[in-house]
Amino acid sequence: MTSYSLTLNGQRRTVQADGNTFLLYVLRNELGINSPKYGCGTERCGACRVLVDGEIAYACTRTLNDSSGTNIVTVEGLSKEGQLHPLQRNFLDLNAGQCGYCLSGILISAYKLLETNPCPQRSEITEALKDNLCRCGAHNRIIEAIKATAGEADE
Ligand code: FES
Ligand code: FES
Repeated sequence: MTSYSLTLNGQRRTVQADGNTFLLYVLRNELGINSPKYGCGTERCGACRVLVDGEIAYACTRTLNDSSGTNIVTVEGLSKEGQLHPLQRNFLDLNAGQCGYCLSGILISAYKLLETNPCPQRSEITEALKDNLCRCGAHNRIIEAIKATAGEADE
C-alpha cells in the first residue's frame, strides 16, 4: 500500500491503496464518490467517465498510479455552493433519464461539451455522446436537457 494524493472536486485528498487499483474503485470504495458507475470496464459505455485535468477520462481503466497528483472532477463536483449545475437542474426538470445508470457519464460528457462549445447543434450533442451508452429510452430527453442548458448560456 502506498499513499497517493490527488485533488478531488476541489479538495486535496490522500488515499492509501495499491497503485494498480482502478480509479473507479478508488473513487467509489475509498473516497465516497458514487456517481461514476461500472458498466463495461473496457472504455465502451462511458458510465465511469470523469474529468482528469479537464479532460474526459475512463475511471474503469485508469489506475491510481496514473491519477496521482491530478485534478479530478466528478458529477458531485459540478454543483457549487449547494446549487445544482444548470445541466443537473435541466436533467431533473426535463426528466432526462430513466434508470439513471448512465447519467453520471453523460453529465460529464455534456459538461465538457458545453465548456468547449457553449451552444452546440443537436448533431454536435449526439457526436459528443456517441461513446455514452444509454439502454433506456431517455435519449431525446437527454439531448433536450443539454439543449436547454445551452439555451440558458445563450440568454
Ligand atoms: S465502465 Fe468505463 S467505459 Fe464502461
Ligand atoms: S437512463 Fe438508464 S441507462 Fe441511461
